[in-house]
Amino acid sequence: MALTLKSGFSFDYDNLFGEGKVTQADLDSYAEDLKKAHEAMKVMRESGFIKAHLSKDGTPEKVYFSKLPYITEENGKLNLNSPASIQKLHDFTEHLRNNIDVVVSLGIGGSFLGNKVLFDVFAGEFWNTLTPEQRNGLPKVYFSGQNIDSRRTGDILNHIKAIAARTEGNKLKVCLICISKSGGTLDTMSNFMVMYDDLTKQENIEVEVVAVTDPNMEKKTLLKQLAIDKGWPQFAVPDGVGGRFSIFCEVGLVTAAVIGMDIEKFLEGARDMDEACKNENVFENPAMLNAALKFAAYQKYGRNIEVMMPYCDYLKSTSEWYIQLLAESLGKQFDKEGKEVCYGRTPLVAVGTTDMHSQTQQHQEGSLDKVVQFIKVAKWANDLTIPNAFPEYKKLADISGVKMSEALEVARQSNADALQSNKRFNACFTLPELNEYHLGELLYMLAMSVAYEGELSNVDAFNQPGVEAYKRIMGPKLSELRKSKGL
Ligand code: PA5
Repeated sequence: MALTLKSGFSFDYDNLFGEGKVTQADLDSYAEDLKKAHEAMKVMRESGFIKAHLSKDGTPEKVYFSKLPYITEENGKLNLNSPASIQKLHDFTEHLRNNIDVVVSLGIGGSFLGNKVLFDVFAGEFWNTLTPEQRNGLPKVYFSGQNIDSRRTGDILNHIKAIAARTEGNKLKVCLICISKSGGTLDTMSNFMVMYDDLTKQENIEVEVVAVTDPNMEKKTLLKQLAIDKGWPQFAVPDGVGGRFSIFCEVGLVTAAVIGMDIEKFLEGARDMDEACKNENVFENPAMLNAALKFAAYQKYGRNIEVMMPYCDYLKSTSEWYIQLLAESLGKQFDKEGKEVCYGRTPLVAVGTTDMHSQTQQHQEGSLDKVVQFIKVAKWANDLTIPNAFPEYKKLADISGVKMSEALEVARQSNADALQSNKRFNACFTLPELNEYHLGELLYMLAMSVAYEGELSNVDAFNQPGVEAYKRIMGPKLSELRKSKGL
């Protein structure tokens, strides 16, 4: 059983639905809830309204992520994607081309994870080792701010200074892209200040800064104020777009611009997926179907862990992005009426085949509490064939002659079959190819799916009150520390 879209994107749910799995009767028992959830998505698309959703400061807040795939003038008024904002991103690419040698993108959580997805998939592990010509004149890219790790930050600084030392005569041009919706996040801003302070003191380095933050002029974020005072160019984290949904707005698209990926195709994939998710038939709507099956698996069969397992190294960060999406959206203590529910599946990162050699033992025989969600890429660019390099060694000869992607799929399918044979729920998303369009489809479908599941479980999928708890403790602790140091 699979739901396959015209584009070739498919959701194979054979091992999650049917006898001994989530049943038609289970879905039937949610018929009314599914209808209501679908209605709520319609309202969200039209007006941004989500029942009971409040912002951090307890005031009603609109939810606009579903507008992001559409590039319209009207969206421009809300700082969402518009012809002008997309043009600004293209202009940024041209500014960077042959003008900036190194970009450091600083951010954490929603201001990092989506950017890393785009970089990993469309630039890849060896981007920084390519020549400027091979990168089409675009800069090397490093990420920072996603931890307060002095060793790594120091290593990046030393590395950049070493590059500068090799740049005879000319100054090395470094662009620091500081991304923070709230504009004052400790992790991001501490790294930013360390880097800015050090790099601007280097005679052979020229530093530019770009700020990506909430554009609100009435209640300016600290980063916004800094950008205005210093005259730094800015991009927007629009109102109504939470960090974990921000890959489709300027937060993620800034990285898309840095590496020159096809922004329009990425949004087109998201847009086509949004259209598919307008279908009221659960079996024809990928986001609703995914949400319904996972919700039923959790509620009726105790499957409270979701293992996101792409069979592709460069999709590991997509799994990490999904962890935040699922955890922050659905891990909630209270429902929309304030009743304690402690809802939410725990997400886990895995990569095939790597984790078949570590986690699979637990998936196959451990607690019956998981859904393993595979992601498969059907057609690989540069698909290598395993050669018969040592024909006299039968065991090696026996694995030769097939493409690596074929061997990978045999491994994935075998894992799926083995899990299924032992009542282990699993499902698979297939991307026909790993390109901008299909990645846009996948990520948007996952975002829309948690929105559906928020409605089904009656929790606010768009707030994250739980992350405020440690922040309330951390602020005073930091002040105490500074005081004890006489600062
Ligand atoms: O999803 C979220 O809201 C968080 O993960 C934030 O993205 C993260 O805390 C970073 O916040 P900010 O962009 O305000 O620096």
